[in-house]
Amino acid sequence: MAYENLLIQEENGILVVTINREKALNALNRQTMDELGRFFGEDLPARKDVKGVVLTGAGDKAFVAGADIKEFLDLQDDQGGHLAQKGQNIFFLIERSSVPVIAAVNGFALGGGCELAMACHLRIAGEKARFGQPEVNLGLIPGYGGTQRLIQYIGKTKAMELLLTADMIDAQEALRLGLVNAVVPAGEETRAAKAMLEKIATKGPLAVAKVIESVNAYFDTTADGFQAEVKAFGFTATTRDFREGAAAFVEKRKPDFKGE
Ligand code: CAA
Repeated sequence: MAYENLLIQEENGILVVTINREKALNALNRQTMDELGRFFGEDLPARKDVKGVVLTGAGDKAFVAGADIKEFLDLQDDQGGHLAQKGQNIFFLIERSSVPVIAAVNGFALGGGCELAMACHLRIAGEKARFGQPEVNLGLIPGYGGTQRLIQYIGKTKAMELLLTADMIDAQEALRLGLVNAVVPAGEETRAAKAMLEKIATKGPLAVAKVIESVNAYFDTTADGFQAEVKAFGFTATTRDFREGAAAFVEKRKPDFKGE
C-alpha cells in the first residue's frame, strides 16, 4: 500500500486513513481521489482482517476543504461530468464497503469534504468542525453526491437552504440536524471513532456487512429495501456466527465470532 497523499496507520485491525495535504487543507486533488479509489476499491477489500476504517484529515484545521479548486482552473468543458461520475463512483466504494467506515471530522468539511464525510457510514465531529456545500459560491454545484446525500441526512428543507446559501454549520448544529453521530472535544475525533469501531468489531462481521448493505438498499431506487433485508437476514441465519451468537447468549458468555 504505497500512497503519496494518504497516511495509513493500523492498530488492532482498525485502519486510520489520513488525507495528508495539510497546506491545501486536505483538498481532494486528482491524485488523492485516485488513491482513495485504490484504497477502497482494491487494497481494503483484499484485507480480510480489517475491522473498520477511520477517515480523517491531517492537521487541526480541516477534514477536507473540498475538491481541489486550483485543479479546476484547467478543467475543459467536456470534463466536468466525467470528473463528477468518477468522484461519485469512488464515494460509492466507501458507502458500500463491507467494513464500517467512520469519518473523524477534525475541521472544515466543505464541498467534496462534506460529501466524503457523508459517504462514510458514521461521522464523529470535533467541536471545531464546520460543514457546508459552498459550490454555488464558485458557480458550481456539488458533484460527489452532495445534493442527494445531504437530503438523506437532514431532509429537503435544510438541505436546500445549505446548498443554495452556501452557509456553513458548526458541529452542534450538524448534530442537531442529524448530519453527525456525535460531537467530541477537538483532537478527540479519531480516538472516539476508533472506540466506536472497536465496539462494532465485537459484533458478527457478516451481520455488520449485511446491515450496511440493507440500509444502503433503502436509498437504491433500483432495489426493494424490504426484500434486500429478507435476503440478508436469510443469509445471516445460515452463518456459523449466528449459531455462535445464539449459543453464547444461551450459555451467558461472550460470542467468539469468526466471520463465517
Ligand atoms: N482547493 C484548493 N486549495 C484549497 C482549498 C480547495 N478546496 N481550500 C483551501 N485551499 C488552500 C488555499 O488556497 C490556501 O492555499 P495557499 O496558502 O497556497 O493560498 C490554503 O489552502 C489555506 O486556505 P485559506 O488561506 O483559504 O484558509 P482560510 O482559513 O482563510 O479559509 C476556508 C479556510 C474557509 C476553508 C477556505 O480555504 C475555503 O473557502 N476553501 C474552499 C472551500 C470550497 O469552496 N470547497 C468546495 C470546493 S468545490 C467542490 O468540492 C466540488 C465538488 O463537490 C466535487
